[in-house]
Amino acid sequence: MNIIVTGGAGFIGSNFVRMALSQRPEWRVIVVDALTYAGNLENLDGLEKTYSGRYRFAKADVADSAAIEKLFEQESPSIVVHFAAESHVDRSVLGPMDFVRTNVLGTATLLDAARKSWRDKAGRFLQISTDEVYGALGDTGAFTEATPLAPSSPYSASKASADLLALAYHKTFGLDVVITRCCNNYGPYQFPEKLIPFMISRFVDGEKLPVYGNGMNVRDWIHVEDHNRGVLLAIEKGRPGEVYNLGARCERNNIDIVRSLLKLLLTAKGKPAVDLDSHITFVKDRPGHDWRYAIDPSKAERELGFRPEVRFEEGLAKTVQWYLENEKWWRDVQSGAYRDYVSKVYGA
Ligand code: NAD
Ligand code: TYD
Repeated sequence: MNIIVTGGAGFIGSNFVRMALSQRPEWRVIVVDALTYAGNLENLDGLEKTYSGRYRFAKADVADSAAIEKLFEQESPSIVVHFAAESHVDRSVLGPMDFVRTNVLGTATLLDAARKSWRDKAGRFLQISTDEVYGALGDTGAFTEATPLAPSSPYSASKASADLLALAYHKTFGLDVVITRCCNNYGPYQFPEKLIPFMISRFVDGEKLPVYGNGMNVRDWIHVEDHNRGVLLAIEKGRPGEVYNLGARCERNNIDIVRSLLKLLLTAKGKPAVDLDSHITFVKDRPGHDWRYAIDPSKAERELGFRPEVRFEEGLAKTVQWYLENEKWWRDVQSGAYRDYVSKVYGA
């Protein structure tokens, strides 16, 4: 069975591809990725050799309808798992149009190719989405699948648009679409612009760790392996046209995460984990910064049997260790363009 994984060279996608190849021997995985700044072939190192015959990499832009239709003709996929996206909120503030193009037009292009390809055969489209489509919460409550969409950033608005298109293709054309909406992921191969790997890289570089606002904003965290376990379950057990929230009931405020990282990093460097706040600088808040996210994953637990396995403290310690052991990887992905981006967001 052929399965197309878009965005398979990115953080969550590459972790998914490794999991799928090792746990689903009956699948042949075709990674479709444009290799933007966030996509790296190094993230897929060794797979060609280990899984030859069951793995293909195709460089293509999901918004390029000719390239996507050709891939559908060549591969006749039974499943599309759509991870490809522009994924970083701060970049969407600097340049929203790339987000509209990839996340909205790209998703529409894939949905339409699937509609044409699956006229005479069954196929399932798994739309990978985010809890950010629900907007911000106050101090209490959690997002359920019935929470109205109220995105704040160009990133989350483009993801919400993509979700609505996917649901419309289900209602109008009967396309077998399932949507998962997950909370903040962490783990290996995350591009060092997102909170956890960014702070680790700053610490290693001897720089202060920039916390937005007062650091009290809350995110709900899940290890990437647990997210991907949920994606596999949604592919295999999800009901057509349904949305499943994925989360691990692990809310933390940003300042606590940064302090936990500092403790782990200082200890790893053989230094006493004291005076943590001397490593932190509070910087100007992100425009439209969502206050709090919290996912209610009850539906996925009930219907899919979803059970996250990684305890946050353990997963965070392993992640810190991974970044310390893989400094070459995160230095290699930090191109000149990346450094230019950092100075735009944080100042010189
Ligand atoms: P990422 O930025 O690390 O990777 C995105 C991948 O998509 C890269 O490999 C990139 O090259 C590729 N890509 C970008 N534009 C493309 C295009 N036009 N055509 C083809 N490929 C393109 O992102 P991620 O963190 O791995 O997120 C993957 C998906 O999961 C996204 O859809 C995101 O919205 C969703 N998600 C992420 C999180 C999170 O915490 N990171 C949480 C919930 C949902
Ligand atoms: P991020 O990893 O960008 O994910 P998202 O915005 O999609 O939730 O940010 C997580 C939280 O950390 C968010 O509240 C913003 C905050 N943050 C900082 O305080 N400083 C930083 O340098 C970054 C990148 C994020």
